[in-house]
Amino acid sequence: MPDLAINIAGLHFKNPVTTASGTFGYGDEFLDFIDIGRLGGIFVKAVTGKNRDGNPYPRMAETASGMLNSVGLQNKGVDHFCREIYPRIRDFNTHIIVNVSGSTVEEYVEVAARINELEKIPAIELNISCPNVKLGGMAFGTVPSMAEEVTAEVRKVYKKVLMVKLSPNVTSITDLAKAVVDGGADAITLINTLLGMAIDAERRRPVLSTITGGLSGPAIKPIALRMVWQVHKAVQVPIVGLGGIMNATDAIEFILAGASAIQVGTANFIDPAVSIKIVDGIEAYMDRHKINTVADMVGALRTE
Ligand code: SIN
Repeated sequence: MPDLAINIAGLHFKNPVTTASGTFGYGDEFLDFIDIGRLGGIFVKAVTGKNRDGNPYPRMAETASGMLNSVGLQNKGVDHFCREIYPRIRDFNTHIIVNVSGSTVEEYVEVAARINELEKIPAIELNISCPNVKLGGMAFGTVPSMAEEVTAEVRKVYKKVLMVKLSPNVTSITDLAKAVVDGGADAITLINTLLGMAIDAERRRPVLSTITGGLSGPAIKPIALRMVWQVHKAVQVPIVGLGGIMNATDAIEFILAGASAIQVGTANFIDPAVSIKIVDGIEAYMDRHKINTVADMVGALRTE
């Protein structure tokens, strides 16, 4: 039997398949559909310092091979998360990783410090890449000095595994990756969504209330693969890859490009059981190719 276990910055995952923040709720919404204990981990919905109502509707639009969203980090804030959500999910038999978001460095630090106190949360994903908020979000993830600063400030208060989620809306993804590693990131998640827009020609209006939104789904996979491959060559920390992963073959491509683990995002909206099918598909591929461990596949792309 191939061994699907992987290690990210000292944290043991039973397999490399996780679900992307904002596409899988807090995990318990999926209990009727799948055995979530078979997943490597769940990246839960973004948590900010205070309640956020999110952007006005419409904030989703279907596109060719993808979808746009402009949710705007809707959540009830870190107090609510710690009091109401954490007790509900703390004993899941998989890693629960919290996506930490904010508008200011202080807010990121405050949320990270609160999550640090939660015993059963082994890692956070610092979200410096949301394209749908006026303050913070992607603004931190597109300027290397700001990305380094927010990572370094969070590093001072967050004592467990610190992952940073990067935006693809940059000229040089490797500059951003190096900056967050310099700031103390243990691992990098990439990519978040690409800034896009949709237009209703009959009404001569944008489809989304915010005009622009974040594009996800199969349309962005080639860009995500390219960025994972570039970052894998540029930094030493592990990568969690995402961007249009719809099946096990897509997931394997990300691992070959350099990802130690992957996140399934948009595909969850189509098939709530897709992540489990991807675990099984990776195992079947490893069996067929006589690969013993996932680590043997990470970055194993043949380019010569
Ligand atoms: C959103 O809530 O607007 C999406 C989150 C993200 O893109 O990071």
